[in-house]
Amino acid sequence: PVRRVLCLAGSLRRDSWNRRLLRAAMAQAPATLQLDVYDALAAVPLFDEDLEQHDPAGPAGVQALRAAIAAADGLVIATPEYNHAIPGVLKNALDWLSRESPAGDVLPEKPMAVLGASSGPWGTRLAQASLRQVLHTCGALVMPAPTLFVAGAASRFDTDGTLTDPATAQSLQGFMLAFERWMARVAPPLARPEP
Ligand code: FNR
Repeated sequence: PVRRVLCLAGSLRRDSWNRRLLRAAMAQAPATLQLDVYDALAAVPLFDEDLEQHDPAGPAGVQALRAAIAAADGLVIATPEYNHAIPGVLKNALDWLSRESPAGDVLPEKPMAVLGASSGPWGTRLAQASLRQVLHTCGALVMPAPTLFVAGAASRFDTDGTLTDPATAQSLQGFMLAFERWMARVAPPLARPEP
């Protein structure tokens, strides 16, 4: 069966290395995965409990992200590293998603994987550690291994933003294969129809 994977980059930047990494993952994923890169993170407003009280379903930008995650079998998050942590835009979106919604909770028990790219030499190690902590708090089932830290991102893509580094491409291929196995393991299809 084909499993649907939503890919989310924690960056609004047009030429984001993290979004480019997710585009490269689409090329490296097995044919049994259908990957989509989410492109509307900018529509998620700053979290405010007053907005929640005004409309329990949340603003339209939050509803759209929630629906996209609900429709996917798994979520892959590529995070930048800002000051040794995850960017505010990503934390903000996760804070919204962690709240109860009439549309249902989308983070608990959702199979997830995290990776990330940075221009520096450490490849988002600390950001990924803090992202894992947030996702565990929200009840997500985060793939423990393999990890993928893409350092020196600028040297791994061409001017069009296409991944040119064979080692990173190979790591991505292994990462997506592992995520497919992880999804099958933690969210196996029902053995028999529900009564
Ligand atoms: C950064 N950057 C950065 N890089 C890193 O490896 N460790 C860090 O702690 C930080 N801190 C940091 C803070 C702020 C405010 C900015 C704007 C940037 C650099 C960062 O890795 C680089 O800008 C990436 O290109 C961001 O990811 P996207 O937008 O290309 O996906």
